[in-house]
Amino acid sequence: MGSEANTHILLISYPAQGHINPLLRLAKCLAAKGASVIFITTEKAGKDIRTVNNIIEKSLTSIGDGSLTFEFLDDGLEDDHPLRGNLLGYIEHLKLVGKPFVSQMIKNHADSNKPFSCIINNPFVPWVCDVADEHGIPSALLWIQSTAVFSAYYNYFHKLVRFPSQTEPYIDVQLPFQVLKYNEIPDFLHPFSQFPFLGTLILEQFKNLSKVFCVLVETYEELEHDFIDYISKKTIFVRPIGPLFHNPNIKGAKNIRGDFVKSDDCNIIEWLSTKPKGSVVYISFGSIVYIPQEQVNEIAYGLLDSQVSFLWVLKPPSEELGLKEHNLPDGFLEGISERGKVVNWSPQEEVLAHPSVACFITHCGWNSSMEALSLGVPMLTFPAWGDQVTNAKFLVDVFGVGIRLGYGMIENKLVTRDEVKKCLLEATTGEKAEELKKNAMKWKKKADEAVAIGGSSDRNLDEFMEDIQNRCNIFFEEVKLVHSN
Ligand code: UDX
Repeated sequence: MGSEANTHILLISYPAQGHINPLLRLAKCLAAKGASVIFITTEKAGKDIRTVNNIIEKSLTSIGDGSLTFEFLDDGLEDDHPLRGNLLGYIEHLKLVGKPFVSQMIKNHADSNKPFSCIINNPFVPWVCDVADEHGIPSALLWIQSTAVFSAYYNYFHKLVRFPSQTEPYIDVQLPFQVLKYNEIPDFLHPFSQFPFLGTLILEQFKNLSKVFCVLVETYEELEHDFIDYISKKTIFVRPIGPLFHNPNIKGAKNIRGDFVKSDDCNIIEWLSTKPKGSVVYISFGSIVYIPQEQVNEIAYGLLDSQVSFLWVLKPPSEELGLKEHNLPDGFLEGISERGKVVNWSPQEEVLAHPSVACFITHCGWNSSMEALSLGVPMLTFPAWGDQVTNAKFLVDVFGVGIRLGYGMIENKLVTRDEVKKCLLEATTGEKAEELKKNAMKWKKKADEAVAIGGSSDRNLDEFMEDIQNRCNIFFEEVKLVHSN
């Protein structure tokens, strides 16, 4: 490759765990390919990230032939400012303070002879592409959900197919390659969604898609070939570069993490190691989903009744959301004794990679889905909202690695303890369990191949670096020409 040492790349992340994890993984992959990468998110998130992960701001860490530096953007609000609990208002505020901050940073770097060759953002901060464009710097988007979900938003945005509406809420959506039922489309696009404004926010990115020269996607070619091909032909060049966490080039940098929460138990992996192979059910609903207390009770009794061993992440809700912490039923913890563990956070990648784990009850966030798919772990799908319901559909019906347990928020259905028990037994013993494991191992093998040297995702990362370099060379030639005239 050659000239990557001069390639300075700026990555800007919306401050949510599900956004930071994939962009930070990309930062490490680009550094491993030789780039000098600066990763930015807000100071409020930075406080947690620095404390939990021993990260030092502005301190350069070498990764492969390149480096990674964290910087944090002060949004000027007190930690308990009411705007933090108002997502739309906060995102508008972040745009107001973020634009001049990023603009100034671009100028400073150009002045110190380290101009940025590319700027990459993830959803919810689409203004980053505008700032890059104003400075003539190529920009790219890291899409952190599936390409199928990208296609759904794309088709909705351009009104290419009919979507459910107030008058026709239950119609099917005829996406290319896949028909989705009304409760399988990203639910922010459904008229009954509790969070329709999140759909509007995601669609903002589609308005200025023409400003990015490519969309990097946290997926792999072999998993979503049809949708990748469809989007690339229809609108914009899509490069699948995942599963990012699984990239062998960044194994040495696995301690550079962006976790907001420190686990209250540092013996999780040791505990898993005391359990027989394929015997433990892992349960997690990601970083923001909040399930009703009644549902927590049913899951707890389902776990007790099925007699399985389990590791359950019951994360307290973020303070900004003003929600009540969950309680476990009386006597639950005493009843499970050594058979189960309940924690506030886990090292999920390590947990899913552990041989003792049999299956994963998941809310189907795309990061969790990709992690489980590429580590060969069957899933019990329990989506809440947004892309999670679409991911559940694909995990169960297309990839063949899941059993449907929950149906998402717009269905408003309680999953009973008996259903939990039935699905758990089905996923852990017998013919269905074998079939799920076989499929999961097939996707793991394909993920391993995609990220290996010369694999599809590895090639895409190399070609992306070359693209940046070529665009920069053209830009500097043009600048020279202007100066010489
Ligand atoms: C959000 C949205 O909810 C999701 O639908 C979208 O696809 C991505 O953004 P989140 O709900 O946090 O994400 O879920 P997910 O995408 O699964 O990301 C959670 C991340 O936190 C994963 O990388 C997971 O490994 C990590 N995690 C979760 C831990 O490290 N430990 C835990 O205990 C739980």
